[in-house]
Formats: sequence, structure tokens, C-alpha cells
Amino acid sequence: MDHERSISSLTEPWHEILQYARMAPSPHNIQSWRFAILSARKLLLQYDPERLLPGTDPSGRFCTVGFGILCEFISIAAAPLGWDIEIEFLTKRLDPGHDRHGCPYATLTLVPRQSAETLDRELILRRRTSRLPYYDEPVSIYLLVELQTIAEQYGHYLEYSSEPAQVTWVVRLNAATMFYDMADPVARREVGGWIRFGEAEAKRRKDGLSSLAMGFPAWLMKLFVNDNWLFNLPGIHELAIALYTRSMRGTRTVAWLSGPFAEHDHWFAAGRMLGRLWLTMTREGVYLHPFGSVITNPRAHQSMCEHFSDVGRVDDIWLLVRLGKSETPPSAERMGLEKLIDREDNVRDGI
Ligand SMILES: Cc1cc2nc3c(=O)[nH]c(=O)nc-3n(C[C@H](O)[C@H](O)[C@H](O)COP(=O)(O)O)c2cc1C
Repeated sequence: MDHERSISSLTEPWHEILQYARMAPSPHNIQSWRFAILSARKLLLQYDPERLLPGTDPSGRFCTVGFGILCEFISIAAAPLGWDIEIEFLTKRLDPGHDRHGCPYATLTLVPRQSAETLDRELILRRRTSRLPYYDEPVSIYLLVELQTIAEQYGHYLEYSSEPAQVTWVVRLNAATMFYDMADPVARREVGGWIRFGEAEAKRRKDGLSSLAMGFPAWLMKLFVNDNWLFNLPGIHELAIALYTRSMRGTRTVAWLSGPFAEHDHWFAAGRMLGRLWLTMTREGVYLHPFGSVITNPRAHQSMCEHFSDVGRVDDIWLLVRLGKSETPPSAERMGLEKLIDREDNVRDGI
């Protein structure tokens, strides 16, 4: 009995906090994280080398952004309990070649919170990516200015446009990027490996991009990944791009983030910022659709740089997004804590 009580007092704050944090977004919903509870105040955060993107994100920059969002969500979820977190990194490289299932990444310690948290942790549960059509209204200038202020606090710039020609260009580039990725064997294998064809598969695996979340029937997604050559046939190619572009209709505002993005600490801080930006939008009922592949795909990135050459800071742009209001999008699956929390005896020798 005493033993059981001591185990539950050990895990109590962490279970509560991690029930929120596990809902953090990650590229392709890979959820690269695992946890080991070391004490009531200390958590070992690990990465799973099999849940990284060595082909399309070889330096791990977008996977690290995911870890930054996760840690920001941990901090926000800990706030009502009076805690904040201190992070000590154990590595600054997410190594896909590592053969351990859970590799030490950082220790997180709960410390008394010094300043009040302005974001309600319930927003974490409401936040979603919306790839649906938007309601054909530009995002409010007040919200955009608030987002810019948050970005500035992290030394980043958030620029936006609600000008139709700019919006159309960005949305079309994102549609084209999906085709660039599928034409590249490395990206096709990697991205295709995270697509869950049908809800049964998504529910069973609790990760990845379901065809429902992507807004296309499973058979079409399967054809797109496995028989991509079909989509390069004249006529079909144009039709497919038009169909995908149409799925993003009603978009009236696009934005792009620029700032320090050269090394691990930049990527991690950018993730913490993106987490706050995303929850701030959620508070206002505004959804986000990140166009991360425009940055990771070399051909799309080149087009973007040429297009934005007059904008300035073009070399520092690390994320392009569309944002707006839409119907409630389907929710992406997440792994449960029983799968994400490692038993203590499995991790001791890895610390
Ligand atoms: C760094 C990062 C990059 C992303 N890039 C893309 C992208 O290029 N295209 C896309 O449709 N979604 C992108 N997403 C959204 C994820 O696919 C999404 O967060 C994940 O599937 C979980 O779904 P949810 O946000 O609805 O919970 C990105 C997310 C993150 C954190």
C-alpha cells in the first residue's frame, strides 16, 4: 500500500502535465518523444531514433522545433500547479543512427514558477492543424500584431500578407511542394511512411498523417504515394494540383517567420515560440496550417527565396503558414502515456 502511494506521488504531477504535453504537434505527427519519470520533480526526456526524419530533415531542425513546442506545453501545463521547468540538455543532436529505443535528450526539473502564465493549458487540447478550406476572411489585425509581439520577444519576425496575389502564390507553392516531395524517392519513402491510409490504421498506430486529416480519401492517398508517376501524366498533374489547391480555398492570410535558425538552440527556442503563437491563435478560434515542407524541400525552398527576394530577411525565413478560421478539423491521433513513459529500470543505464 505504502509502496503504491509512493509510486503515485512520484508520478502524479508528471502524469497530469504529460497528458497535456503529449498533444504537442510534430512534423507528420511523428511524436519523437518518450519520457522516464526520475522523481516527483525530475523527468528524463528522450527521443526515439526511429521517429526522426533523416531523409527530409537531416539536421533534425524541424524535429527539434517539435521538442521546443513539447517543452513549452510542459511548462504551460505545469503552471496551474505552481511549477515552471528548468531544462538541461544531455545532447544537442537527435541522432537517427542511434540503436537505443529511447535516447537521453534532456532532463526537466520542476521549479517554483516566478511569473504568471498567460496561456490557459486547456488551449493545448483545443489546438489543431486545419488543412480544411477557411472561411474567406482575413485574420484580425489585432491578433496578427499580438503574434508579431510574441515573435519579437524571441528575436524573430512574423510578417503576414492578406493581399490576394501573395496568398494565392503561397498556397499554390504549398500544393506544388507535395508533388515535389513525392517526385523525390527519399522524401516519398519517408513522408509516405508516415501516411496512415484510413482511420483504422491511424487509430491502431496513433501517429502519422491520416488521410482524413489530409482531407483526401484513403484510396487516393495510396495511389498518390505508391503510383505517383500517374500524377505526372499531362492533364492529371494539373487536375491534381488544382484539387489540392482547392482544398485550401478561402485562405485570406498567409504569414512567414524569420529569425535565428542555424543550430540546435535556435530550433528549440523557435519551437517554444511556435507553441505560444499557435495557442494564442487557438484562443481566438484561428487555425494554423504550417507549410514546413516548403522549407525542407530544396526545390520549393528555392522558389520561395526567389519570390520573397524583395522582402528582406529571406535567408532567415524558416516557416511559411496559412492561418484562418474553419470548421473544426479532424483531430490527429496521439500515443497514450502507457506507451510514452518508459519504465524506470529500462532507462537507468541510459542516463
Ligand atoms: C515543425 C512542424 C512542421 C510542420 N509542417 C507541416 C507541413 O509541411 N504540412 C502540413 O500539412 N502540416 C505540417 N505540420 C503539422 C503537423 O503535421 C501536425 O501538427 C501533426 O500532424 C499533428 O496534428 P495536429 O496539429 O492537428 O494535432 C507541421 C508541424 C510542425 C510542428
